[in-house]
Amino acid sequence: MSQMKTIYLKDYKKPEFKINSCELHFDLFEEFTTVINIMSINKLEKSENDIRLDAMDLELIEIYLNDLKLNDTRYIIGEDSLTILNVPESFSLKIKNKIYPQNNTELEGLYKSGSIFCTQNEPEGFRRITPYLDRPDVMSVFTTTVIAQKDKYPILLSNGNKQNCHDFMNGRHGTTWHDPHPKPSYLFALVAGDLGCVNDEYTTASGEHVELNIYCDKGNESQCSHAMKSLKESMAWDEEKYGREYDLEIYNIVAVDSFNMGAMENKGLNIFNSHYVLADEDRATDANFMGIQSVIAHEYFHNWTGNRITCRDWFQLTLKEGLTVFRDQSFSADLNSREVQRIEDVKGLRDRQFVEDASPTAHPIQPNSYMSINNFYTSTVYEKGAEIIRMIHTLLGEENYRKATDLYFDTFDGQAVRTDDFLWAMSKASRIDLTEFETWYHQSGTPTLKVEESFHNGIYKLTLTQRVPNAVDGSVQKPYYFPLKIGLIGLTGKEILERVLIVSKEKEEFVFEGLNSKPYLSINRDFSAPVKIQQSTKEYAFLMKHDKNSFVRYESAQSFATETLEEMMESGNIDEEFLEAYGYILNLDIELSYKALLLELPSVSTLMQRQDVVDFVPIYLAKDRLERELAALYKDKLQELYKQNHKPKNKKLDAISMGQRAIKNRVLRILSALENREVIDMAREQYKESLTMTDRVVALDILENITSEEGEVALNDFYNRYKDDTLVMNKYFAILAASHRNGTLERVIVLENDEVYDEKVPNLVRSLIGVFARNYKHFHAIDGRGYSFVAHKIIEIDKINPQMASGLASAFKIYERLNNENKELMKKELDRVLAVPSLSKNVYEIISKILK
Ligand code: ARG
Ligand code: ZN
Repeated sequence: MSQMKTIYLKDYKKPEFKINSCELHFDLFEEFTTVINIMSINKLEKSENDIRLDAMDLELIEIYLNDLKLNDTRYIIGEDSLTILNVPESFSLKIKNKIYPQNNTELEGLYKSGSIFCTQNEPEGFRRITPYLDRPDVMSVFTTTVIAQKDKYPILLSNGNKQNCHDFMNGRHGTTWHDPHPKPSYLFALVAGDLGCVNDEYTTASGEHVELNIYCDKGNESQCSHAMKSLKESMAWDEEKYGREYDLEIYNIVAVDSFNMGAMENKGLNIFNSHYVLADEDRATDANFMGIQSVIAHEYFHNWTGNRITCRDWFQLTLKEGLTVFRDQSFSADLNSREVQRIEDVKGLRDRQFVEDASPTAHPIQPNSYMSINNFYTSTVYEKGAEIIRMIHTLLGEENYRKATDLYFDTFDGQAVRTDDFLWAMSKASRIDLTEFETWYHQSGTPTLKVEESFHNGIYKLTLTQRVPNAVDGSVQKPYYFPLKIGLIGLTGKEILERVLIVSKEKEEFVFEGLNSKPYLSINRDFSAPVKIQQSTKEYAFLMKHDKNSFVRYESAQSFATETLEEMMESGNIDEEFLEAYGYILNLDIELSYKALLLELPSVSTLMQRQDVVDFVPIYLAKDRLERELAALYKDKLQELYKQNHKPKNKKLDAISMGQRAIKNRVLRILSALENREVIDMAREQYKESLTMTDRVVALDILENITSEEGEVALNDFYNRYKDDTLVMNKYFAILAASHRNGTLERVIVLENDEVYDEKVPNLVRSLIGVFARNYKHFHAIDGRGYSFVAHKIIEIDKINPQMASGLASAFKIYERLNNENKELMKKELDRVLAVPSLSKNVYEIISKILK
């Protein structure tokens, strides 16, 4: 199978040709589209005589070289290429071909989302549109003309600035766009449709006017204001924090319903999953609003970190993604609660990236091989990548970091570069040697830091030992170099010092002199390094009370809860001290959304990661029991907190209102463990009277999980109210697929036939099947039906959209660590998937690595 071939970083070769310009003409029809691609090409030194262009499923109409039509002895059409034989030093190539966007269910290249034509070309979609050197280090200037029927497609968009529009006699019209900035083909975009639009403007720091447009399905315009506000905030932030201004006359964003990922940073024409654009208080949760703000920022920030400076090859993906995630996280922290943002980011990292890093698909943030590059848009490349940039930021300090990013932009603007080039700029500008730090780019797995303390004669000694796991292939890996932010706290709770230690050896000692008594250690403040801390002293209650570092306070509460749950699983005993500490938090007068996080019990994923052999049943039994215990013990206080903060008619999005919703919904969830009439009434009332979606989904979720009758009434109401709004219906499917009630799998199977459900729309598949595959209780049920159902779906969806299918396959990454019973059941299903003859390389790569 030639498709299953592995690509290696070490095999990278420079391009042999340069494409100076690329002029594209699209003629869009209902059955097909014709593409004319005119390139001006130059040989680079020592080039071959033949030019091999990437081309997928090519239906060629004709080729002209320097205006001469080529007959078929002059070119070869391969499985994934078009090779033109014997080309001169410098030439123009005109290729005309035909594509079928209407039949494109993979959602790569040019496809249709409902009635909208749109594109997704990162990483290798462009070769499905026209033959090209479809690699990020080939950058060219694009001019694009789009022609379509005017009444159906009044809006015609592409990258750059708008040049001109023409009306034709036959009811068709065309628009030409020109993008002056050379770019790789993965940043090319095209949109055609009958779209609604929200318009605004922005003036850059140097006084340039930028037209801002957000396009969406007609009727949804009023749901674009949060996205527009976020866009303007992002533009201002990047000017202030990184000195980066926008560089075109126009910035367009288009929201589409069928999209494989979150969004795409195409130059001047971002295309978004409508999930990350559309929102109002009636339809979107507070978390949705936050998500929109950060994804709008993320794609905007790519204009400098990704577009102006791009990646040399796809192994360098973290160059743009890790850096851009770090930038969007910093932006969100600046605009919202810094402490909550950091905790949420670390939670996400641990729940997804740590799990991936402990699995057979673990890889360095800069991988050295892949089968399908689409499988490497991972939380490792993105979120761990962002942690690596954050560590650089910590090592350099704010001022040096800014100098270094300035140097990076000055030096590499307009180029396709490597992570090494980024590191060069970081260390050159700061004069800090980062050689030892580079290990973070090339190794996989999460290191554990073992902490030992001693105190004698006023001297406090901290001994740190790194345990670095072996790589997936079994090879031994080196210890890391990283900043470890710590604090020492005195017996009365007074802070003695805060320091950033540089850890670089396998075993190291740090000595602090002149202390009166053994201090309390506050370690890995702000989560300064993405490591696991292993500590034998348990000072959680003290740190929860006295640590001024909001992250370590949270961490202490989590660790305390985790160990309490583990003890319950082992002996059945509940630690009284933990119950007390929990009560202490309940009474704290702190920011409410932070408090809501402190009161959350550790996720099943957190507990599962600490087991040698994973068994889910004891975990959720213990969690359920601890929740019941806490709810019963603190019922009055919880009720009081609820009443104080439940403001059903308030739908404002300011920090205080969102904090109130966060805490009262947390409290309601804890109380719901009691499963009594009182709680059911509270949830039902909340569902009925609240004006926000935030409140409604929590109420629905609680009702669904504790009472089938009341749940059904509310869910029916929800269904009737929102059945015409697919985006909102995702929430409906997700609540049902995540339900712990018996019969969940049966209901999921029925929902697949619901008229709202559509297997071709990724959001819906993720909400129903994807969420079910993360429903620990039912996916891992020991009758094996959960595994069998998901495996069956993977096979089915792989035929429609391989990227979607391989996304679902990642639910099986836990395989190796499962208990024997589950493992055997899962193996049967994985074998079945792997035996499918026409399996995509996307799914093949994931499953074959899991089974290895
Ligand atoms: N560059 C996009 C972003 O991070 C994601 C594109 C993902 N594409 C894919 N085929 N996996 O904003
Ligand atoms: Zn990105």
